[in-house]
Amino acid sequence: MKVLMINGSPRKGGNTSIALQEMEKTFREEGIEVETVQIGNEDVRGCIACNTCATKGQCVFDDVVNELASKFEAADGLVVASPVYFASANATLVACLDRLFYSTGFDKSMKVGASVAVARRGGCSATYDELNKYFTISGMPVASSQYWNSVHGRKPGDASQDIEGLQTMRVLARNMAFLMKSIALGKEKYGMPKQESEHIYTNFIG
Ligand SMILES: Cc1cc2nc3c(=O)[nH]c(=O)nc-3n(C[C@H](O)[C@H](O)[C@H](O)COP(=O)(O)O)c2cc1C
Repeated sequence: MKVLMINGSPRKGGNTSIALQEMEKTFREEGIEVETVQIGNEDVRGCIACNTCATKGQCVFDDVVNELASKFEAADGLVVASPVYFASANATLVACLDRLFYSTGFDKSMKVGASVAVARRGGCSATYDELNKYFTISGMPVASSQYWNSVHGRKPGDASQDIEGLQTMRVLARNMAFLMKSIALGKEKYGMPKQESEHIYTNFIG
């Protein structure tokens, strides 16, 4: 059983890393394999809506997004974590997730998702909601914790003092591990939910 964690921060050893390290430790205690990829310093451009991915099966820009695609496909769960920038997820992470979710055709349903927002003070719940949108359009159950998943700190290292935030991370990882294990058992016993043969797409003009 495996979890992929994407860290949107550009700062090595920053507060988002501290939040994710707390989750990593808990996942390992739960017997879950973890891989964390930090993308905040990568040159990740936004989606150009070329739709090349529809025929090629991967993004036209062959960068970290295509590397993440195969890791995501192999994972049972995905954690996305962002430093809050102007009450939003940071732009590099948003560009990465737009392209990752848009360009990959594999079935994401029943992979468990969790998002984490890290800020000095404000914008955590807006960022948390923003990141959960990727999961909830993809048939992915969302793991939650005892509080909306946020950790506070400004300078790198500050987050280690946010003891409530770190407990929230541990509880989140435990809940997520439980969900992933339960879904694996459910798949064995009941199989995956039946899928409709055609995915209907409409817009407001037809
Ligand atoms: C461009 C920019 C915008 C920011 N906007 C916010 C914000 O809206 N709210 C907030 O509380 N902190 C904001 N911060 C502070 C970071 O969220 C905070 O320092 C966080 O701990 C960074 O995480 P990291 O160490 O993992 O990079 C901002 C920082 C930067 C660089």
